[in-house]
Amino acid sequence: MAFERYGTMKVNDKGHLEIGGVDTLKLAESYGTPLYVYDVALIRERARGFKKTFEELGVKAQVAYASKAFSAIAIYQLMAEEGMSLDVVSGGELYTAIEAGYPKERIHFHGNNKTREELVMALDYEIGCIVLDNFYEIELLTELLRNRKQKIAVLVRVTPGIEAHTHDYILTGQDDSKFGFGLTNGQAEEAIRQVLAASDAFDLIGLHCHIGSQIFETTGFVMAAHRIMEQLVTWHESLGFDSKVLNLGGGFGVRYTEEDKPLEPAEYVRQIVAEIKKVADGHGLAVPEIWIEPGRSLVGEAGTTLYQAGSRKEVPGVRQYLAVDGGMNDNIRPALYEAHYEAVLARRPLDKPEETISLAGKCCESGDMLIWDLPLPKAAAGDYLAVFCTGAYGYAMASNYNRIPRPAVVFVENGEAKLVIKRESYADLIQNDLALN
Ligand code: LLP
Repeated sequence: MAFERYGTMKVNDKGHLEIGGVDTLKLAESYGTPLYVYDVALIRERARGFKKTFEELGVKAQVAYASKAFSAIAIYQLMAEEGMSLDVVSGGELYTAIEAGYPKERIHFHGNNKTREELVMALDYEIGCIVLDNFYEIELLTELLRNRKQKIAVLVRVTPGIEAHTHDYILTGQDDSKFGFGLTNGQAEEAIRQVLAASDAFDLIGLHCHIGSQIFETTGFVMAAHRIMEQLVTWHESLGFDSKVLNLGGGFGVRYTEEDKPLEPAEYVRQIVAEIKKVADGHGLAVPEIWIEPGRSLVGEAGTTLYQAGSRKEVPGVRQYLAVDGGMNDNIRPALYEAHYEAVLARRPLDKPEETISLAGKCCESGDMLIWDLPLPKAAAGDYLAVFCTGAYGYAMASNYNRIPRPAVVFVENGEAKLVIKRESYADLIQNDLALN
């Protein structure tokens, strides 16, 4: 039976929640809980969707997976298979990508404080490009590249003075952000001058900007594209600089709860491309190659976390708490961002709710709540719960707080499950500890 949630999710003959053709109860029993389950077909669909839209519009493009959303060997291999480029933001993500065999020329390196060691690593691996973020980095990298007699492609990250706060946009005149070079305060132009002047070290291929995350409208992207394109018209005249690439970042929204109404991923792309083409055509500029960096919209909805219910506490007349065997360790987002989620009982996802419970984690702090006021059929200790849309910034932000081992991750596709990250053991937890005596 169809189950209108995400991707390949359905309710099977037994009435259980099934993902990728695999019964979630079986997954919970085989791999234990908490367990992150990824619907591989949905990830592929999203990746192909973005690429196809660019193809249909006839523009040159790169779709880079923003791997801070979920970084692991297996997801890198999947993204490589789908022809994605890759955005990494640390030596750790870069190392994982290289270990995964990611085509190095398709790796882009971001970050507002890349260390010397991280930059050397990127140069040793000869990755596709580095996104320059600040003057310190320009200086550091120029020195490294000159000493090594090496040249690398770079983008300059600009802050276009537009900040998206999910539903509305703030025009920040002063470009108050820790990232990038301000477009309106002259820093971006100064950065471009410096990079062009160091042409023995840098091949300046274009500009980058990222306006925010979990955005439900195209307005902010269109505004950003417009501002940057207008600026490019000026720089074409004044600096003789032509941006071969324009990277508009990520931030396309997903549906955590029924209240969330994201656009089709393709819609963002169409609007961005239309605006860029409009300004370029209007001024006789060539349309740059357009890059985007989706993270959440590629993997967020594809992830589901399975938990097992344990203790219950009733505060008479106030609330029923139902605690699960995970919590803020594997999903910090409710505690950190007041993020909302939805969940069902994996054994009977279609049953009518009989009570309202609040889903608590097992960490020793009151803020460790996963979902407040969740309508649910009567659930008892031992029941499995499936929390939806945990694929982005879930495992990636997981911690060992309270010395709780991190969960396992399985990929499911066409009726098969594959373990891609092992559950941590207690021994793993102490592997870097050194005894005092
Ligand atoms: N590109 C850049 C330069 C970024 O900074 C980000 C996200 C992305 C792409 C991908 O954005 P996405 O498509 O995933 O929205 N931990 C937070 C999200 C932080 C996002 C940081 N940058 C959360 O759990 O909501």
